[in-house]
Amino acid sequence: MSTSDSVYQQCISSSCGDTFAIGEALVACDQCGDLLDVVYDWNRLPLPSSLKEFEQKWSQRGDPLNFSGVWRFRQLLPFATPEKIITIGEGQTLLQRADRVARHIGLSAGRLFLQYEGMNPSGSFKDNGMSAAFTHAHSIGAQRAACASTGNTSASLAMYCAVTGLMKGVVFIGSGKIAYGKLSQALDCGALTVQITGDFDDAMARVKEISQKLGIYLVNSVNPFRLEGQKTIIYRILESLDWEIPDWIVVPGGNLGNSSAFGKAFSELKELGLIDRVPRMAVINAAGADTLYQLYDRRSLRWKNGDADMCIARDYYQELDAQNQKAETIASAIEINRPVNLKKCIRALEFCDGVVRRVSDQEILDAKAQVGAGGLGCEPASAASVAGAKLLIEEGIMGSDERVVCILTGHQLKDPTATVAYHTTDQEQFDRVLGQRGVQRASFANRAVVVPNDVEEIVKAIQLYS
Ligand code: F0G
Repeated sequence: MSTSDSVYQQCISSSCGDTFAIGEALVACDQCGDLLDVVYDWNRLPLPSSLKEFEQKWSQRGDPLNFSGVWRFRQLLPFATPEKIITIGEGQTLLQRADRVARHIGLSAGRLFLQYEGMNPSGSFKDNGMSAAFTHAHSIGAQRAACASTGNTSASLAMYCAVTGLMKGVVFIGSGKIAYGKLSQALDCGALTVQITGDFDDAMARVKEISQKLGIYLVNSVNPFRLEGQKTIIYRILESLDWEIPDWIVVPGGNLGNSSAFGKAFSELKELGLIDRVPRMAVINAAGADTLYQLYDRRSLRWKNGDADMCIARDYYQELDAQNQKAETIASAIEINRPVNLKKCIRALEFCDGVVRRVSDQEILDAKAQVGAGGLGCEPASAASVAGAKLLIEEGIMGSDERVVCILTGHQLKDPTATVAYHTTDQEQFDRVLGQRGVQRASFANRAVVVPNDVEEIVKAIQLYS
């Protein structure tokens, strides 16, 4: 751990702003309970003179720190000394031009790029943040690490524990609220999996309480070090675009860690003079878990220099409770009604001239089918970004010639149940998995052809359909 006070943690509240040493494991300000940032005194830290300098690291990829898609940018998240850094090879991701998907959403050819974060070791973007939080946890001597999860954070934590053997992982999940691909990872990698009655919001509240009680290191994105790792998604996107700034970054919104981290990344790059402009950001909620949309778009919750009127959020949560309204979407990864990074996200939205939209499960699954048909595929929550971009183009807010990057946060194989139900010929299966959530049709289904086990019939079917 860097011992100098050129790196510290700071409360984001303008009326508090208290600071803490980086050696402390905190998930909230000790004084006022607000969120914390990791803050750098850049004048006292070595910096690249241009972003292009990072390209040289690739020729030194024999060194695991330069191979890592997170740590080769370590000068931009300089909280750890190199000997303490933990990497399992995260961040070997791909930014792919996606013309077929562009056509579907109404963008011109060459204007849509998909950032495939599902290529990370555990199959989601979480590994970016986990390598950073795990590094911090290890640096301060933690023996156990915990999280609440809709599945991907738990898969990532379980994998870091299994690969490194440095810590025991404890994961909290809501019963029946996690896709099997993700649950199988936590179990397979040997994490202690605690399934509680309730949903993610219940599990999140509990894990905070229990980890504090038992002194277990918490790796959810309330942990500011997690977000330091997630900043690198932006660095890799810019690198893939030859350091040109796109017009839009579109990201699904759940607990709002990514959007918060992206805002911090851009604000630091701008402050350091490493970029000259900032893209707009769109955060996309699922309609059944649309707290950010309700608060930002409908009730005008704004950052206001750190003095955001959080009573707006508290009132909204009271209304949700009074109506016993729970988050409900096929995009289980973002089935969250109480996003822990809400305040940081509205700061990011202000900095990036952001917009928030919500999309239905129908729109999410149709967009997901298009992403699958056009390339490497993604899990349902990830496709919210593409569905959101489509909506913004229809509304005329995003121009068809603008350069747009949609973040695909998780791998296609994370949630095969939703995918197979979408493509199935079995109406009962469709209704059970999707119909009850208001999904009425599979507009882009690729149905399996049912044929008797007979050579002539099979040949006939192939000739008919190919
Ligand atoms: N996409 C996927 C695939 C996710 O797993 C998550 C969050 C999000 C989007 C939302 O990202 O929280 O940064 O806004 N999954 C968490 C989990 C909550 O427990 O795996 P966010």
